[in-house]
Amino acid sequence: MLFTRPRGTQDVLPSDVESHLFLENAARRIFNLFGFFEMRAPIIESAALFARSLGSVTDVVEKQMFIIKKEDGDIALRPEGTAGVVRAYVENGLDKSFPSGKFFYIGPMFRGERPQKGRLRQFHHIGCESISGAMPAVDIEVILLLDMLMKEIGLGDYQLKINTIGCEQDKLNISKVLYEFLSGKRESLCDDCQRRLDKNVFRVLDCKKNSCKAIAKEAVNRINVCGRCKAHFDAVVAELDRAGINYIIDPLLVRGLDYYTRTVFELTHPNLSSGQDAIGAGGRYDNLVSEISGGKIDKGAVGFALGVERLLLCLNRAGEIKCPQVVVAYQDASLLHIVIDIARQVRAKGISCDYDLRHRSLKAQMRRAGKLGAKYVIIIGEQEASSGSFTLKEMSGSKQITGLSRENLLDKISLKS
Ligand code: HAM
Repeated sequence: MLFTRPRGTQDVLPSDVESHLFLENAARRIFNLFGFFEMRAPIIESAALFARSLGSVTDVVEKQMFIIKKEDGDIALRPEGTAGVVRAYVENGLDKSFPSGKFFYIGPMFRGERPQKGRLRQFHHIGCESISGAMPAVDIEVILLLDMLMKEIGLGDYQLKINTIGCEQDKLNISKVLYEFLSGKRESLCDDCQRRLDKNVFRVLDCKKNSCKAIAKEAVNRINVCGRCKAHFDAVVAELDRAGINYIIDPLLVRGLDYYTRTVFELTHPNLSSGQDAIGAGGRYDNLVSEISGGKIDKGAVGFALGVERLLLCLNRAGEIKCPQVVVAYQDASLLHIVIDIARQVRAKGISCDYDLRHRSLKAQMRRAGKLGAKYVIIIGEQEASSGSFTLKEMSGSKQITGLSRENLLDKISLKS
């Protein structure tokens, strides 16, 4: 092989596209039901936007961004969608033109991670951002939407973990408490956590190693959020209870991006291995819009993103390709003008139609029609062409109708398709 795809990327082949479309269409349907508008921000953004939004000492910014060096500032392939949506919201004054502040996006994201099953360097997000304010109603609506979407795509058996990490002041207080406690246990933490301790102490709570988990559990017993953040969280989970949504409150859930405040959540699914079992995640970010707008717009927001490839691993859908319904087979190249005309008429009826462009033998064309999975073949020989009557072959059996006029031919196909 002279060239192969870059590590950690996938070719979404025709048989996989249908599965992507299945998810995308379901998502569009549900987002529309909740009054969200689709947005398509660029795939490249200034690298500084992500450093500012996600935090310069997060794994994503520190280690995983694909950077393109440019004289007028580094450009990054977007590792996630939130920062770009918020940037576009501020830059285009969407706070005025879209007062609901509810947007969704579907598209590729890029992270230079070590590839493995369910972890890619180019993957796709189905995500949304509800830049709608500080009320618990915003968190609740986003989670209700997520629940409806998961049920719609047949993954209603997902698990929702939820937690609150408090407001900016709480986060500062908590990081102090965590640092004091965890510094005393430094020697017992893994090498990664020893580094995290000094850079971003919250990340120690994320560690998957059992020894660190035990210490993290002790640590979270010492932290608390303020009364207002607690009341916010209580209001969110009370509504989830009323709506019959199952969740687990996980005090160790902190999320790896800096912009989160208050509510954070993660979705897992039993069909995925425990290392890469998050099929989606999200939360509230109350200060990002203000930060990106230089203090001009102060709006709290909540959003989530689902990893499309991980959803597909859970769903395990058999790939399906849409075959042309009708193939026109013809005896020789001199009949091409009739073929083109008939194909035009069939397509005008909304029926997919294909014909061989290489003028091969009728036998070869019939074989090709079989391989393509066509339902019908219209056969045009010299005789049919001169008499204006055609033959229609049904591929599933050996049924063949001869002597059909053009009108009858088109009616027959329309009726059966
Ligand atoms: P995130 O947790 O970084 O959140 O990504 C969301 C989901 O994307 C993950 O749960 C996972 O399913 C999928 N994902 C992440 N990295 C990879 C990868 N390398 N390969 C395959 N799938 C992956 C965010 O990106 C936030 N922007 C979510 C959000 C929106 N928060 C508020 N609004």
